[in-house]
Amino acid sequence: MTPLEHIGEWLARHAGFDTASVGPGHLKAAVQRRLRHLALDSEAAYAGFLEKHPEEGDELVEATMVRETRFFRDAAVFEAAGQWAADWSRSHPGQTLRVLSLPCASGEEAWSLAACLTAHGLHPDRLRIEARDISAEAITAAREGLYQASSFRGVSHADRARFARETPEGWRILDPLRPLVTFQRRNILEDSGDAESSSYHLIFCRNLLIYLVHSARLRVVGTLHRLLKPEGRLVIGSGDLLPELLERFAPVRPASSFALTPHRPLDLAAVETAARAAAVPARPAAPPAEETSGEETPEAQYYERARVFLQNGDERHAERSCRQALYVNPVHVPSLELLSELWSHRAPQRLRRALHGRLHRARRGGAA
Ligand SMILES: C[S@@+](CC[C@H](N)C(=O)[O-])C[C@H]1O[C@@H](n2cnc3c(N)ncnc32)[C@H](O)[C@@H]1O
Repeated sequence: MTPLEHIGEWLARHAGFDTASVGPGHLKAAVQRRLRHLALDSEAAYAGFLEKHPEEGDELVEATMVRETRFFRDAAVFEAAGQWAADWSRSHPGQTLRVLSLPCASGEEAWSLAACLTAHGLHPDRLRIEARDISAEAITAAREGLYQASSFRGVSHADRARFARETPEGWRILDPLRPLVTFQRRNILEDSGDAESSSYHLIFCRNLLIYLVHSARLRVVGTLHRLLKPEGRLVIGSGDLLPELLERFAPVRPASSFALTPHRPLDLAAVETAARAAAVPARPAAPPAEETSGEETPEAQYYERARVFLQNGDERHAERSCRQALYVNPVHVPSLELLSELWSHRAPQRLRRALHGRLHRARRGGAA
């Protein structure tokens, strides 16, 4: 095993992180940053340091985690959750709705839930949102509740003003929402869920499972199953409908790939339909939603992965993710733009010209 593989193995054991999910360049770049910080001269020296200094593990986790998030990431999901919560509230007078956002990253998801659920009529006295993440930096930022414009992609200025106010330092979450959310730094792998069994009516667990190794996925799914009430709802990300999840949860409706309930007698047809839909995203028949619409389409997910790869200098995987986005949606403008940037210095001129033509037509709203 190479030193880098050793370090990857440590991350899989302690945080469940699957380095393959983000490509080899991601871990290498993170370790290089730690090497520079500690003035060490090789990956082997760092692997030895990590063995001897367990506290370095926290720094490695901070350097490696993908914390990409934003407010109202996939607006349709929040709308559906808001309607479900409003129905729940009407049929459970006097009871408090308990919600968990896990992982919450820097808090955008948890604050979006607070804004969305109160806008759907839930009384603040009957709403408790808890939010957790393994990253200490993310939790500190979440508690502060101060955000820059990039966290609001797809949310109009007017909509932001309903839950945050503009200040010279950025957008601050409004005071009335603050008591509704509590943040905690926690590693989900260290929770069995036993102590809080059946505590939550609604759990958002989006964009975590895709980054985990198989054994960690199984463990997280077991924990989520214990935490959620039998009649509760688990909300997942558009890439999270994985076989491990379907062992304990079933889609609410065959068409839903994001809202699940704990297993009752298994509706196999529904599970298979949803699993197929998640594995091979169908080409959308209608013209695609722009990235800025706030909809989390499969192509938007692939595009975001491409950006993470590119940030880590891994152009090969970035290009592959762009191509996957364009397979799903051939006129996805952000992916065409990114691919054109990636090809600007290496693809043959003939291909670049064809891509420019395609981009031009897509921008005008035509077929690719
Ligand atoms: C891509 S973000 C997702 C945030 C949000 N749910 C969303 O969909 O926008 C993934 C988050 O998972 C957190 N994470 C990774 N492994 C974790 C673990 N073992 N326990 C808790 N959080 C973890 C990371 O720190 C990161 O903030």
